Amino acid sequence: MTVHADDLPYYERFNPTTGIRRPRAWFVSDAPRLSLNGMWRFRYSARADIAEDLAEEGLDDTTWSTIAVPAHWQLNGYGTPIYTNTKYPFPVDPPLLPDENPTGDYRRTFSVPADWADADVVLRFEGVDSCAEVWLNGIELGVIAGSRLPAEFDVSHLVRRDAENVLSVRVHQWSSGTYLEDQDMWWLSGIFRDVSLLARPVGGIDDYTISASFDHATSRGTLRIDADVDARVLVPELGIDAATGEDVVIDGVEAWSAENPRLYRGTIATATECVPVSIGFRTVAIVDGVLTVNGERVLFRGVNRHEFSPTTGRTVDEDLMRRDIVMMKQHNINAVRTSHYPPHPRFLELCDEYGLWVIDECDFETHGFFPVKWRPISVNPTDDDRWQDALVQRMSRMVERDKNRPSVIIWSLGNECGPGRNLGAMADWARQRDPSRVLHYERDWTCQYVDLYSRMYTSHEEVDAIGRRAEEPLDDPALDARRRQMPFILCEYAHAMGNGPGGLWEYQELFEKYPRCQGGFVWEWIDHGLAARMPDGTDYYAYGGDFGEELHDSNFVADGLVFPDRTPSPGLGELKKVVEPIRIAIEDGQILVENHYGHIDTGHLDFTWALEELGRTVAAGTLGSLVVAPGSTGRLPLPPLPATDDESWLAVRAVLRHPASWAPAGHEIAWAQSRTQSPQQVVQTGAVRPGHAVPHARDHVVEYDEAVFDGTTGRRLQLGDLLLDGPRLDVWRAPIDNDRSFSWDPREPAWRDLGLHRVQHRTEAVQLHDDELVVHTRVAPAGTELGFAVTYRWRADDGGLRLALSVEPEGPWVVALPRLGLRMSLPGELDRVEWFGLGPNESYADSRRAARVGRFSATVDELQTPYVFPQENGNRMGARTLWVRDARGHGLRINGAPELSFTARRWTSESIAAAAHTAELRPTERVWLNLDHAQNGLGSGSCGPGALAPYRLEAAPTEFSLHFAVVR
Ligand code: GAL
Repeated sequence: MTVHADDLPYYERFNPTTGIRRPRAWFVSDAPRLSLNGMWRFRYSARADIAEDLAEEGLDDTTWSTIAVPAHWQLNGYGTPIYTNTKYPFPVDPPLLPDENPTGDYRRTFSVPADWADADVVLRFEGVDSCAEVWLNGIELGVIAGSRLPAEFDVSHLVRRDAENVLSVRVHQWSSGTYLEDQDMWWLSGIFRDVSLLARPVGGIDDYTISASFDHATSRGTLRIDADVDARVLVPELGIDAATGEDVVIDGVEAWSAENPRLYRGTIATATECVPVSIGFRTVAIVDGVLTVNGERVLFRGVNRHEFSPTTGRTVDEDLMRRDIVMMKQHNINAVRTSHYPPHPRFLELCDEYGLWVIDECDFETHGFFPVKWRPISVNPTDDDRWQDALVQRMSRMVERDKNRPSVIIWSLGNECGPGRNLGAMADWARQRDPSRVLHYERDWTCQYVDLYSRMYTSHEEVDAIGRRAEEPLDDPALDARRRQMPFILCEYAHAMGNGPGGLWEYQELFEKYPRCQGGFVWEWIDHGLAARMPDGTDYYAYGGDFGEELHDSNFVADGLVFPDRTPSPGLGELKKVVEPIRIAIEDGQILVENHYGHIDTGHLDFTWALEELGRTVAAGTLGSLVVAPGSTGRLPLPPLPATDDESWLAVRAVLRHPASWAPAGHEIAWAQSRTQSPQQVVQTGAVRPGHAVPHARDHVVEYDEAVFDGTTGRRLQLGDLLLDGPRLDVWRAPIDNDRSFSWDPREPAWRDLGLHRVQHRTEAVQLHDDELVVHTRVAPAGTELGFAVTYRWRADDGGLRLALSVEPEGPWVVALPRLGLRMSLPGELDRVEWFGLGPNESYADSRRAARVGRFSATVDELQTPYVFPQENGNRMGARTLWVRDARGHGLRINGAPELSFTARRWTSESIAAAAHTAELRPTERVWLNLDHAQNGLGSGSCGPGALAPYRLEAAPTEFSLHFAVVR
C-alpha cells in the first residue's frame, strides 16, 4: 500500500525537523544560561502512537518515574541496548517504522531567573536520539531529528517569566532519521546530551565566524571575524581592537598546529554580550596533490573515536573527553576522526587546546542499505531526492556549530552511505559556506564530490600502488585523473579488535615513503563493552547478544585500542611506538635523531641514555637537548660506556623536557635500543651433578638426572620436587578475533576443520641412551592423514635438562599454524614470572615494536590481557631466560636457545576458546605454560588484511631447543 507522506506521523517523514532556529556557532558567552540537566519526570512506552497527553499542563506526572538528563534510557532500566554493526534492527522500509517504537516522555519544570529581565530566551538541545517533539507550557515548539546535532527553539514569546514553566519532550527510539544513522554502535536512545536555556540579550551576538589564516612564507596571520551584529573584536595579546567584518593583518604571528596548538584568546563584544574566543591561525591547502597545513605536509597518526562510556554510553562528561585526549596525546596520536557523527562540542574545543587534527564527520550512515538490492522501496537515502533536505540540513547543523574550531581541518559528509547525489548537495553547501577546509567522504571511490581520496582497510600492497599514484583506474577518465592528483588517507585501518592490530609498522613505512599517503586513523579508539554483572557478582563487559537481541553482531563492538574502562590495550602501546614523531637510531658510534614532526623542532625534548647488562642498569645519564628542525636529522655523540661481559643494551630515550598540558616532564616520546654486547653465556652454569646423568627405567618410569618421565609416553612428570606435566607439542591457540570465521583471513574454520584444537599424541618409542632420553611421537588430529613427527631429545646438561625438539610436518599442510611450541602445566603455586627478553607488554610477530629487551617480572595474573572477548593473549617474545617461581623463589628456570616465546596462565587455551566473556574464565589448580618457537602473526583480518606473509607460521620442519633447571 502506498502511504501518502502527509498522512505519516512526524517521525516517519523524510525530514521531521520543524521549528528549530537557524543553526549557529556553539559558544559560551557571559549571557546567562540555565542548565536543564538533572532529574526529569519520565514515562516509558513500548509504542510511539500513544496519546499526546504529556504536554497538558495540568497532567499529574507524579505517577511517572524519573530519569537523568542527559542519559540513555536503555542504561537506566527502560528497554535494552541493541548492538548491530550494519543491519537496521527493523525491516528496511524507509521511511516507515515498526509499531514497536519505544518512546520516552520527559517532563520538567523550570523558572526563568529574575535577572534575565526581558532578554530573548532560547531552549537548546545538544543531542537527542533519535527524534523528539517538544512543547513548552502546552504549546508545541517543533520536532528535532538528527541525533548528534544541536537544535534550538526560540521560546521568548512563550516562556513565562514570573511563573513556573513546563517543558515536555517526547522522544522516539526509531524515526526516519534512524535510516540515516546506521552507525556501527549500540542503539541507545533518549536526551543524551545537555539541555539548556539561554538568555539572549537584546543586541547580543547570535552567531560569528572566525577566519584566521596563516601565510607560512611570511608568518603573517590574517584575522577576520564576521558576526550577525556589529561587534568589537579584542585580542589584547596581538594588540587587536577591530570591528567585526574587518580584515586584520598581523605580522609574526604564531601558527596553530596539532603540535603547537597556539591559541590567542580574545573577545567579541557588543554592549550587551561578550563572547570569549580562541583563535588559531592556520591555513589548510592541497598543494601538488598533498594536503598541507601552514605549508607543511600533514601526516595523520590518527584514531577513530566514538563517544563512549561503559556505564553511560554516548553520554560523556568533560572529564572523560579530556581523558581521551590526554591519553591520545600521551600515545603520540595527533588526529581524531569523530566517527561517525559530530561529538559533544566541548570535545572539539579541547582538541583546539591540546592540539589534535580533527575530521569532523556528519551524522550520516546508511550502511544497512548495502545488502538491500530491490527498488523502489529501499532506494538508498544517499541517492534519493526525498532525503536531500534532511541531509543538507544535517551538514549545515554540523558546519555551523563547529566552524570556529581550528582543530577541525576536514569536514566529512558521513560514513558508509554508498554513492549518491545527495552527497553532492551536502558538499556544495559546505564548500560554499566554508571554503577554508577540505571535504572527505570514503564510500564513493570516484571522489567526485570531495577533495581527498580516502579508503578503509586497504591492503599494504594497494596502499603502495596508491602511493605511487599507480592505482587501478576508474572507468571515467576525468574522475580518474582528478582522483590520481588527490592526497590519500586511510580513514580507517588497522582494525584493533581483540588481540591486534598487527602490521602497523608496514603501513607506517608506506606513509613515510610516499608523500601522497598521509597516514590514517586506526579503527578504533575504544571498545564499546557495556558494564554488566554476572549472577555471581562478577563484573564483565557486555557486547552484542548479551541483552537478548534477536539480531546482533556480537563482540564486533569491542574493537578498540583501549578497553571500555580506558585501560590501554597492548595495541595502543604498539601504535605509540610505531608512530613516534622522533626516530632515534644508534649506529656507527653515534645517535641519530630524525625529527618527523611537521611544525616543531626537538627543543622540547631531553635525551637520556641507559646501559643494561642482562636487563640490569649498569650506567645511565643524560645527553641533554638537541635542536633538530622539522624534517631534519641531528646527531648526538655516544656516551662513554663501561665494559660489560654479558648481553647488554644501550637505550636512548627522548622525553619531555618540561611538563605539557597532557603529560608531566620526563614523559617518553620515543626510544631506541641497540645491542652493545652479544650474549656470551646467559645461563648461569650450575655444577653438573655427575653420576645422575644416565637415564634408566624403573617401575614404568624413566629417571634421568633430577627428572622423572612416564616410561610409556615419555611425558615428563617431575623435575626435582616439582610435579610437572609435559612439555608436549602444542599447535593450537585460542583463536583471536582476527582468526575467526568473519575475518577477511579466516583461519579458525580451517584450523578446526583440520582438528588442530584436538590433536592426539601417539608415542612411537622411548629410547634410553647413555647420555640421552629420546622420545619419538606422532602428533595428529583425528580423521586426517596430516600430522607431525615429533622427537624430544632430553640430555642432562648445565645443571638441568636440555630438550631438543624436532618437528617434521607430514602430509600436504596448506594452512598456516596457530602456533608451534610446547605446552606444560606446573603446580599452581608457581605464579610468579620473571624473564629476560622482550617486554614488558605482550608481543607477537607483527606487533612487537613496542617491546624492548629487558628484565621484567609479573604475576601470572598480571600477564593476562583482558580482551573483552576471550582469546589468545599475553605472549612475550624473545625470552632468553624465564623463571617461574613460587612465593619462596622455588621453581623452574627455562632458557631459550637462544630465545623462546611464552604465555603463562591459570587456564588452558581450550577454556579460553570456550568462554564468551573473559570474566567467565576460572583459575585451575595449575599454571599452564606455553613455550613457543613461534605463533602466527596477528594481522588485522577481523576487518582488513590478515597477517603479512613474513609473519605467517607455515608448517615447516623445525628444530627448537630449551633448557630446564630447578631453581631453589
Ligand atoms: C567500517 C565502519 C566502522 C566499523 C568498522 C568495523 O566499515 O566504517 O564504523 O564498522 O568498519 O569495525
